[in-house]
Parts: sequence; structure tokens; C-alpha cells
Amino acid sequence: MKLKVAGEILGKAKAEVLTFAVFEGVGLPKELQKIDSSLGSTISKIIKLKKFSGKRGETYVFQTYGKIAAESLLLIGVGKKEEFELDHVRNYGGLAVKSAKALKAESLAISIPSCKEKLSDVSHALAEACVLADYVFDDYVTKEDIEKSLAVSILSGDKNSVDYGLLVAESINYTRQLQNFPPAVVTPAYLASEAQRMGKELKLKVSVLGKKELEKKGMNGILAVGRGSVNEPRLIQLDYNGGKKGEKPVILVGKGITFDTGGISIKPSRALDEMKFDMSGAAAILGIIRIAAKSGLKRNLIGLMACAENRPSASAYLPGDIIKSYNKKTIEVLNTDAEGRIVLSDALGYAAEMKSEIIIDIATLTGAVVVALGSTYSGMVGNSQKHMDTMKKAGERTGDKVWQMPIHEDYREMVKSKIADVKNIGSGKGEAGSLSAAAFLEAFVGESKWVHLDIAGTAWTTEPKPYFGLGGTGAGVHVISEFLRTL
Ligand code: BES
Ligand code: ZN
Ligand code: ZN
Repeated sequence: MKLKVAGEILGKAKAEVLTFAVFEGVGLPKELQKIDSSLGSTISKIIKLKKFSGKRGETYVFQTYGKIAAESLLLIGVGKKEEFELDHVRNYGGLAVKSAKALKAESLAISIPSCKEKLSDVSHALAEACVLADYVFDDYVTKEDIEKSLAVSILSGDKNSVDYGLLVAESINYTRQLQNFPPAVVTPAYLASEAQRMGKELKLKVSVLGKKELEKKGMNGILAVGRGSVNEPRLIQLDYNGGKKGEKPVILVGKGITFDTGGISIKPSRALDEMKFDMSGAAAILGIIRIAAKSGLKRNLIGLMACAENRPSASAYLPGDIIKSYNKKTIEVLNTDAEGRIVLSDALGYAAEMKSEIIIDIATLTGAVVVALGSTYSGMVGNSQKHMDTMKKAGERTGDKVWQMPIHEDYREMVKSKIADVKNIGSGKGEAGSLSAAAFLEAFVGESKWVHLDIAGTAWTTEPKPYFGLGGTGAGVHVISEFLRTL
């Protein structure tokens, strides 16, 4: 997709499709009134005849027969004006692109909705939604003819905000692409080579620990989880130094299980294919660092991706095993399907050794968070209220929303083991599963400040939204990037 800002007067915008946001139950905005009169009051008639009312998500398209520069006009309903917020701007942008593509248009001009939101925010949101809506994972679909890419111009948008929105959305799409690729392709080694490729492009230091190095360092959690697979585990580290020398870094830790069969505690086969998305936390880290490096973020960042494939085999780790994690704490394995917390224990223990501003981990950690929050919010737990407040606000602004959940002595009790320091599952009944998981992680962060995001419900979607098609959503990329910008 080509995306630019154009300064044309609406009636003179040359494009195959020109879109307008129309609010429900209020008259046409001034800009549209002018166009309406050039079109012989077609729009007023359509509204009068109740063919289009401006309800959210409603669309109406018609030819303009040369009466204005654009060949057709697309009206998009955006609902009640008083309820209008940035997420509706994104829906509007997404619908505009999807409709233009359905009409096989090659050029689209989008007008800015007249609303109380800041022009910079609206411009960013529109650019982002267009680029996100344009993305489809179709690398494996045989195509008969090559689809032409859509040229979008945002009329009277703020150029800097559009450019930044474009960078964010392209980086989210980059993460989505990694999420969507098949598990036979995206192995721990693949993620390592992708990190190295990105590192070269963006001039970052990248180091990869393979099996031997993991053994030397005593990263027995990552090793244990990866032991059942021929695709050996990796711990991948990326360093981005945009901040002052010596300034404490923000450390990002991601769960990178490239496929989660459950291991010996094997999962049922229903929707098992979706467990290719169990590396979404690690993929998000690459997207976040891409945004930081390309926008010149003035912060020091360290990304740690704990990557393994969780499979049953003759060499797989077993329930009953006791693992010594990197920070020397021992873990009693009671369920090999609670593997995310085990690989994260090494990475968090390693992160906790370094002096950091904050450690943020991001993981498709528990089914329980999907029960609690669905696909609307990612779950958030942590030990630094200040950082969590910043994260929550960043979530609201970006639409990549997070909801704080509690940490409590009871949850810590749930993961105490009788024969080791911790056990990898809480109560056998799965009560507060996301919170016993978080309490487990907490045991490895030491004195560091720490925020944990559980993206199990938000990392991918099976019901497309106006600006998100099927598959990976890049959850966490936007909210954490915004968090870093506003920290
Ligand atoms: N990767 C899963 C969590 C998950 C489930 C993510 C559904 C997305 C959708 C994780 O490794 C897992 O299997 N967790 C178990 C933990 C349980 C055995 C304590 C779970 O949530 O059921
Ligand atoms: Zn699992
Ligand atoms: Zn998992």
C-alpha cells in the first residue's frame, strides 16, 4: 500500500474512491454539504430515503459521473457523534480500505472526520488502520493475477503523525507475518535468524544462545521445554541503544514457543493449529524494537526472546521432573503444558541480573486469561503501579488495551511446591490460572520492577474486525511502543 497526505480540497481530490465519515442523526458536515450540492443533493436524498443513516459500520457507495473529481463517493457510518473516539476512527479507516479493495479501486482518498479528537491523533489512527486493514496473510494462496496495490491519500492529515502511524502499523504487520507463518517454518532457529537479519538492517547488537551456550549458562528451563523437539531452543537477545550511555534499559522478555503441543501433558486436537501463535510474545518484541530503532527512540532497550518448541517425544521433559532455573530456583514440573512460565523463568532470571528501569514480559501464557477478558483486553499484572498506570493509558490511546489483575499472597501460595521451590501449576482446578502463572513469574524477577502482559486472548483473532483480518494481531506491539514513548 502507498500512503500519503494530500492537501486537496475535497471536491477536487482525484481518486477512484473518496470516503466520508457520516455521523448518525446529525446533518451533513459543511464540507459534505458543498459536495452534496455539486452532486445535485444525492447524499441528502439517500439519507432522506433512509437508505443510509450513519450507523456505525454502514456503508453506501455511488458514482459521481464527473460532478466532482473523485469517481465514486463512499459514505461510511461512524455512529453517534458524542460516542466517537479513536477506535471508531480506526474502524472508519479500516472499512474505507476494505471497501475500496472490494470495489477493486486502485486509489482512495480519505477525508478526516470532523470530531473533537486532535488532528495528530486522528491522522495517526487513520494511517495505522489503513495499513493494518490492508494486510492479509496470503503468501501460500495461489493467485491468478497480481493484485495492484492501493494508493491511499489522507486528505489534510498531519504528515508527521501519518508517517509515525505508518511505521507502527508496518511493524505490527511485520509481527503478524511472523505469527502467521506455519510452525514448520517459524522454528526457534528461524526466529534467531530473523532477529539477526533485522539486527543487521537496523544496526543492533544481536546475540543468540543455542543449546550448548544455554547449557553453559544453566538455562535449564528453556532446555527442558525444548528437549522433546528436533528444533532446538534458542535465547535471542537484541540490544538497542537509543538512550544515554549508562542509562538503565527497559528489558522486554517474550515467550517464543514456536508450537505448543502441550508436550507429554498433550493438548486436545481442537484448534491445536492455533498453538503456532504461542510465539506471539517473542514476535511482538521484534516489532517493538523495529519501531524504536526506526523512529530513533531515545531509550536503551534489551529484547530477550525465549524460544523453544514444546513437543512430546522420547526425549521430552516429563511431569515429575525438577528443573533448576537460571537463578538457581528449582521448578517442579506437574504439567508440561505450562511451559511458557518455565522458559520465561530463565529469561526473567537473566534479566533480573541486569540493572533495569523495568522488565516487561509478554506472553500467550494462560487459557484462563481468555476466559477472564476474552479478546478485548490483554491481562496485566506487575509490581510497579506507576508503570502499570502508564501501560493502561497507553492501551487506551492505542486500542491495544490492557486490564490490570491482582497479585496476592494466595496466588504465591498456589505455586509453592513441597519438593522444590515452586511448581509450574496452581490449584489443580485451574482457579485463577492467570494469577498463579503471574505469581510463578514473580519468583524470578528478584528486586526488579516488572510488568507482565498475558496476550493469550488478544494475540490472534478468528473473527475479523474492520481493521484486523484473520490471524495474528501483533498484540502488545502498539501498547508497549506507546508505553516506551510516554515513559
Ligand atoms: N500456550 C498456552 C496458553 C494458551 C491457551 C494460549 C489458549 C492461547 C490460548 C499455555 O502454554 C498453556 O497451555 N497453559 C495452560 C496452563 C495450565 C496447564 C496450568 C492453560 O492455560 O491451560
Ligand atoms: Zn502450554
Ligand atoms: Zn504455551
